[in-house]
Amino acid sequence: MTTVLITGASAGLGAAFARGFAAKGCDLILVARDTGRLEDLAGELAAAHGTASEVLTADLLDPAQCATVAARLADPDRPVDVLVNNAGFGLPAPFPYSPVEDEERMLDLLVKVPLKLTHTLVPGLRERRRGAVLNVSSVAGLLPTGTYGAAKAWITAFSESLRVDLAPYGVRVLAVVPGFTRTEFQERAGMDVSALPDSVWLDADAVVARALKDLALRRPLSITGRRYKAYALAARHLPRGFVARRMARDRRPPASAPAHRAQDVAD
Ligand SMILES: NC(=O)c1ccc[n+]([C@@H]2O[C@H](COP(=O)([O-])OP(=O)(O)OC[C@H]3O[C@@H](n4cnc5c(N)ncnc54)[C@H](OP(=O)(O)O)[C@@H]3O)[C@@H](O)[C@H]2O)c1
Repeated sequence: MTTVLITGASAGLGAAFARGFAAKGCDLILVARDTGRLEDLAGELAAAHGTASEVLTADLLDPAQCATVAARLADPDRPVDVLVNNAGFGLPAPFPYSPVEDEERMLDLLVKVPLKLTHTLVPGLRERRRGAVLNVSSVAGLLPTGTYGAAKAWITAFSESLRVDLAPYGVRVLAVVPGFTRTEFQERAGMDVSALPDSVWLDADAVVARALKDLALRRPLSITGRRYKAYALAARHLPRGFVARRMARDRRPPASAPAHRAQDVAD
């Protein structure tokens, strides 16, 4: 029996990963802050697939609660085979207008938490010579697109190199690289996405189905849809300075931000 621990399992892509792994007969450990939603999901998965799910309520930004999740990953009597580092959020304002505490929380959840949880599980995976780590990144990490994109660039590069380190032990590592996906992400981040055409949106179940196929095929990256595959290809060849300037045009200051005066720089 394969046991899969998923962070951010109460909504969006994490819940879709739970459904995808449950359909394959895996047992699950569901991690997020909202116990009620995790319990509802555990009940749904038990009814649909006969899956056993542990609900592990944790705010991963709380060091003690994150340590509890790490302890579960390190428990030799109840081995975890697959870790899905998925929990995340974005911020409403670009870096110059964003409180540094919010920036630090985002960096911690997108980078330090996956680093710590992965580091905790790796010795067990190596010893058992099986298992996988799936890291949910983003196409935003393929080009210079602000601090969220910088954190996602980290997790993609981390996944690509860890994949090589763990390959001799038969352990797989996959970076899941979604484009815009219909979840609660944009609403939670206070992003206005009303102008985006329907054609850019991915379905969370489709992202997960593609990721599980790419995991089975031992691919390094999983990108869903022709549009985002073309974007990833173009990203390799586009001049990064030009792209950084073009992307910055879409990262407007929030309405509440004070006007930037030339004198501010001189002061
Ligand atoms: N949706 C997109 O367009 C998109 C595109 C590319 C990449 N991604 C990435 O996909 C991943 C999943 O996002 P999503 O789109 O599924 O967003 P979502 O629907 O907002 O789900 C986010 C999940 O993260 C959990 N979470 C947030 N803060 C947490 C914390 N401090 N501790 C524990 N859990 C926490 C939330 O659960 P609780 O509130 O219950 O804690 C929720 O389950 C993220 O890494 C995101 O960056 C999303």
